[in-house]
Amino acid sequence: MNKLIIGYLILAVLVACKEDHKKVQNQTVEKSRYQEEYRPQFHFSPKEKWMNDPNGLIYNEGVYHLFYQYYPEDIVWGPMHWGHAVSKDLVHWDHKPIALYPDENGLIFSGSAVVDTNNTSGFRENGKTPLVAIFTYHSMEGEKNGRKDFQTQGIAYSLDNGDTWTKYVDNPVIPNDGIKDFRDPKVFWHEPSNSWILTLVAGDHAKFYTSQNLKDWTYLSDFGKTKGAHGGVWECPDLFPLQIEGSEGEKWVLIISVNPGAPNGGSGTQYFVGDFNGKTFSTDQEEAKWLDFGTDNYAGVTYNNVPNGERIFIGWMSNWDYARETPTKKWRSAMTVPRKLSLEKVEDDYFLKNYPIDNLDVLTGSMLLDEVEIVGGTSDTLQISGLNQSEIRLRTASQNFQLLFKNELDEVLVLSMDSQKQIFSVDRRLSGKVDFQEGFGDKKHIASLKGLKQGSHQFRILMDWSSMEWFVDQGMLSMTEQIFPTKPYNILIINNKDGNEPVIVESIKEVRSIW
Ligand code: FRU
Repeated sequence: MNKLIIGYLILAVLVACKEDHKKVQNQTVEKSRYQEEYRPQFHFSPKEKWMNDPNGLIYNEGVYHLFYQYYPEDIVWGPMHWGHAVSKDLVHWDHKPIALYPDENGLIFSGSAVVDTNNTSGFRENGKTPLVAIFTYHSMEGEKNGRKDFQTQGIAYSLDNGDTWTKYVDNPVIPNDGIKDFRDPKVFWHEPSNSWILTLVAGDHAKFYTSQNLKDWTYLSDFGKTKGAHGGVWECPDLFPLQIEGSEGEKWVLIISVNPGAPNGGSGTQYFVGDFNGKTFSTDQEEAKWLDFGTDNYAGVTYNNVPNGERIFIGWMSNWDYARETPTKKWRSAMTVPRKLSLEKVEDDYFLKNYPIDNLDVLTGSMLLDEVEIVGGTSDTLQISGLNQSEIRLRTASQNFQLLFKNELDEVLVLSMDSQKQIFSVDRRLSGKVDFQEGFGDKKHIASLKGLKQGSHQFRILMDWSSMEWFVDQGMLSMTEQIFPTKPYNILIINNKDGNEPVIVESIKEVRSIW
């Protein structure tokens, strides 16, 4: 008897040890996974395989959800699913199982999610409030057969805060009357009209719809055929109000991604500032304004339901021109850091600012370099290890300066300001691996200084192994770029030779890994 008990005990201990060992092994696998070459350390990237647009950004019951376009079989685009990750602080992420799989209606393209608090959809069960996802179905068959109506809109709901999803039996909820590109629905609750409003894109314009129950949709209006940039198809719209900084007033912002046709080539995100009356969006703006002048911030949209009402944006840090060719092996691409959007009025013009959320500061680590001043007419070469995973803050009224990130192989990434030409630029032509695809390293990328005040500017740069995000004056201007240096940059040259005012590096700090 005793022997039997002792035997059981030994067995139990052995099983527990094995489990522990397995856990440690799994943790080690996870850890080493996130130490692969070029793996971002504080940006979200999928465990493995292909990712593109952020989808279904929603906050619910203490959880920020990040769904995303995902192909679980390969590191190039393929039949789309919605991948899923969750976060409590928008900084640290936990991976979840795939949320939405393709079905008989098609692949699951981009879309959004809402919390249906008042159970307008009738999906509530046992008092559980439904999360409703609204997405595009893309029928491969329809496309192959040369039909034009292969994209329709469908919905699915979850009663366990996003863990499992049920597709609506009467999908699609918005059929297609023959528009080839008809996709990316973004839905929000519009209080003044007491209805859901849906924005989607249809080739060269946006369309608005309204609904009482998320199932039956009525067309409202079109916007944009003759406004903004039309170098390619419109994608991933988002419509929301924003308070004008320093005033009680508010304006509506319509974000539209366009591919190709971005200012520095390929995919980019434009915005319009205007008014929305529950039916139509109107604006005086004729020309495109760009949310980001870098080449790697695309298909970005904002969170629904954020508790303090902040507008938080996440973009896909890549570009359709070369997204499928970037030199990573196990996974492809990452998201931008979450950025808070705000609206500034400069003279009679409105500018949409985007800047990392405050919470990102929880990752700030050790000081790599304390304050230094590079006076006008000089330059300084600083040896800094850890540059590839760092945050650099500087300020200057110098009208002409360059920051050169260099490694032992003389690969160099150059950020510069040139007041004569009235531009900022990022030059990644010699930054490392660039020849994997024509178009990645073929030219300098340029941003105009429009909207920026004269005088001193503040700069913040986030470096994360294969990306660089550059923010000027709290996000009045931003440039997001992928980079693939063969060796980590360990030298920072600050060239202020043509400048007349000092460049002050306030700090260079380590940014800790989230993995
Ligand atoms: C934007 C986009 C969307 C589409 C999705 C497909 O990058 O082309 O318009 O829904 O990607 O993955």
